[in-house]
Amino acid sequence: MNEKILILGGGGREHALCAALEAAGAEVYGFPGNAGFTRVFAPEADATSGLRNILRQTRFDFVVLGSEQPAADGQTDLIRNEFPEVFVVGPSQSAARLESSKAFAKRLMQKYGVPTARYDEFSDPRAAENHIRRRFSEGAKKIVVKADGLAAGKGVVVAESPDEAVAAACAMLDGTLFGAAGKNVVVEAFLDGVEASVFILTDGQDYLLLPSATDYKRRFDGHTGPNTGGMGAVSPSPHLDDALLQSIVEKIIGPTLAAIRAENLEYPGFLFFGLMICGGEPYVLEYNVRLGDPETQAILPRIVSPSLLEMFKALRDGRLGRVKLEISPQTAVTVVCVSAGYPGKHTTGEIVAGLENVALPVYLAGARRDENGRVRTAGGRVLAVTGLGDDLADARQAAYQAVAKICFESIDFRRDVGMF
Ligand code: AMP
Ligand code: GLY
Repeated sequence: MNEKILILGGGGREHALCAALEAAGAEVYGFPGNAGFTRVFAPEADATSGLRNILRQTRFDFVVLGSEQPAADGQTDLIRNEFPEVFVVGPSQSAARLESSKAFAKRLMQKYGVPTARYDEFSDPRAAENHIRRRFSEGAKKIVVKADGLAAGKGVVVAESPDEAVAAACAMLDGTLFGAAGKNVVVEAFLDGVEASVFILTDGQDYLLLPSATDYKRRFDGHTGPNTGGMGAVSPSPHLDDALLQSIVEKIIGPTLAAIRAENLEYPGFLFFGLMICGGEPYVLEYNVRLGDPETQAILPRIVSPSLLEMFKALRDGRLGRVKLEISPQTAVTVVCVSAGYPGKHTTGEIVAGLENVALPVYLAGARRDENGRVRTAGGRVLAVTGLGDDLADARQAAYQAVAKICFESIDFRRDVGMF
């Protein structure tokens, strides 16, 4: 009998997970999923009780965390406690603090010697202001202010003047910017370098090093405009070579897993290291307790063997250390197609045409099927296309040729993904 897998989430990343698991023969369901899923459970106002009802009615082999929120909300613990026969790919609520509390993550990095930007933590606006003004007067050119809690990817302000940094810290601390997520702030040194993302699947002891990636965060070409969840991604990251990867393994992955074990954090799942490479040395900007979006859409197509399903079984059965990953030497370029106003106000309900003309992987995100089965836009990030090629130029060409065949009225995308 095929394994039954429930994926929590409904973005492009979750569709990419779904596609990889279906290709391995699994029966995959999304909660809530999107138009890319064959089988979905409708969203519920109370996600936790909705999840409980689903698991009471259907016997799943695996539940896979797409985004961090279900773990931060305690859903991974709920499943482990109430449905022990289901294997959850995702950390406990306590372990998810690696992402859900920046202060927790920074303290852990400091305690276990993981390289990261120097930082201080504040809950009092006066103290934050004094510190920020002192740092600038000591010569800092920029300073990074982060809300402690989850703020939908928007909780980071890179400030170029003391007034801007103080305003951000105060707006976080008085709750106007992110509510409770800003009750504490982390003020950290600005790191000047290039960014790369490294991903592992781990049980806290052993791990598989997945393909690396670099994402395109800013909305417009030339790295301009607002920060978004990611307008594109390239795998492997061109900023990492073998020597740097080795140093990441030794200085970052090893000590982080040692920390996870020493702190008794329950961690079967994906762990995402958001890195800044400065002067040839890697520093952790952030941990995420899940894969990236749109990095997932770029990295999964490069995993030749074993299948994602085999990896999850090895994770469940304590065999991760014996799995040998084969990664394709090809380059992947993922281009995200959005509704023009994204990340601000944008339209929905537009017909998405041309999908049948595209042979490459297309990962749907903010997309739903109407009563006639047609795909319509239903969010800012509508879909992503991944091109593979022998080099960056080939992969770019494949991706953009496919994007040119897809159309909806307000379609927009960055033209420079892969041009660095
Ligand atoms: P985070 O959510 O911590 O990854 O931050 C979001 C983005 O802010 C990162 O991807 C970086 O582009 C930027 N950022 C965060 N921390 C720093 C830092 N210490 N120095 C420079 N840029 C940063
Ligand atoms: N693309 C960045 C993230 O998923 O957090």
